[in-house]
Amino acid sequence: MKIAILTSGGDSAGMNAVVRAVVKAAILKGCEAWIVREGYEGLVRGNGEADSGPTYDPPSVTHHSDFPLAATNIINNLRFGDGELLKDGTGDYGTGNYASGRTLKGRYIVRVGWDDVRGWFTEGGTLIGTARSKEFRTPQGRLAGAYNLIKEGIDALVVCGGDGSLTGADVFRAEWPQLVAELRTQGKISEAQAQLHSHLKIVGLVGSIDNDMSMTDLTIGAPTALHRICEAIDNINSTAFSHSRAFVLEVMGRHCGWLALLAGVAGGADFLFIPEQPPKSQPWEDEMCAAIHQHREVGKRKTLVIVAEGAHDIDLNPIKAEYVKDILAERLGLDTRVTTLGHTQRGGRPCAMDRILPTLQGFKAVEALLEANPETPSYMIGIQENKITMVPLMEAVAMTKEVSTAIEKKDFEKAMRLRDPEFRE
Ligand code: F6P
Repeated sequence: MKIAILTSGGDSAGMNAVVRAVVKAAILKGCEAWIVREGYEGLVRGNGEADSGPTYDPPSVTHHSDFPLAATNIINNLRFGDGELLKDGTGDYGTGNYASGRTLKGRYIVRVGWDDVRGWFTEGGTLIGTARSKEFRTPQGRLAGAYNLIKEGIDALVVCGGDGSLTGADVFRAEWPQLVAELRTQGKISEAQAQLHSHLKIVGLVGSIDNDMSMTDLTIGAPTALHRICEAIDNINSTAFSHSRAFVLEVMGRHCGWLALLAGVAGGADFLFIPEQPPKSQPWEDEMCAAIHQHREVGKRKTLVIVAEGAHDIDLNPIKAEYVKDILAERLGLDTRVTTLGHTQRGGRPCAMDRILPTLQGFKAVEALLEANPETPSYMIGIQENKITMVPLMEAVAMTKEVSTAIEKKDFEKAMRLRDPEFRE
């Protein structure tokens, strides 16, 4: 089997670890590993008509036939797998295509080897690139994507991205038989190709700092982003304490309050605003000022208010950091500053969890592809109660959408319940 991986949507720490794990697991399972550069955009662009694939022919080697998920086995195989391969005299098992950049010019779908992804788990962002592709949202773009994959003989795809990217993957899979038929009608592929690649297998891994996907406890990149925020809070706390100031910290998370909430717990915030649970009273300004006044009264020298980027009041009016600052200054006379952490939360080296989680999940993704058939749903690899899980992708997407719907309907209790794994139904 030829397995391709792409990263899509906003980057997150740990995406490189996913690519590394998928590439290595695919090779260990006797499959060819491919990467698609620049997310779905790379699928649409493909490799150009003249060029039908990399010329490098890797040596044939004996692969491990079985690869259990247990972390110890994975680590042993990752560490020693290449050593064993080297022993058979094939030396350059990794194609080095990607690492050397040899065949990259104008090529978006590239076969890679072991050496190409060596050490990637420590790197931030995504080394294979990501994009928010407009083209892929059109039927024409997806037709081009199908053609470009079939041209390389690929019909198994791992997508690492947020819910939008994973929904895109499922749409692509559902449409695939029609796309193949259309390509056949247009004479772009042969009957043999159409039959050989009649189904697309996909599996999704959730790469997002927001931790906004249902049916998984953690998304890849969220733990690192949380660490970044905690570090920033520690830095802010010392200067806030020195001047006895108040700080309003705006954190990312789109429509999800996970980063803000957990940072509030880990960093000792005085008040916080998250989309799922806005302040109960309206106007909320009195509630916030009363809480902070009380903290100051008992001797606190510093104040920290965290505002999630998607925060709003119970009437869904946005709550912005600058406005919160003005209230603290005017009503409580606090010398107040705003800090917006922005993309510093997203970039940089992954923390340990964002290396471990994608490694375990990347291996599971390859196993899922090897077991997939036209009848099985597209799976999303997650983690629940410390176990790597495989859940129907579209169920997770639908449940995630339910949270947004609950918020839109101002049913905040339901939104919180849906977010909290304790109450998972
Ligand atoms: O989804 C990840 C995320 O970082 C969100 O927290 C944020 O709202 C958004 O992406 C920012 O996107 P961009 O990098 O395109 O500005």
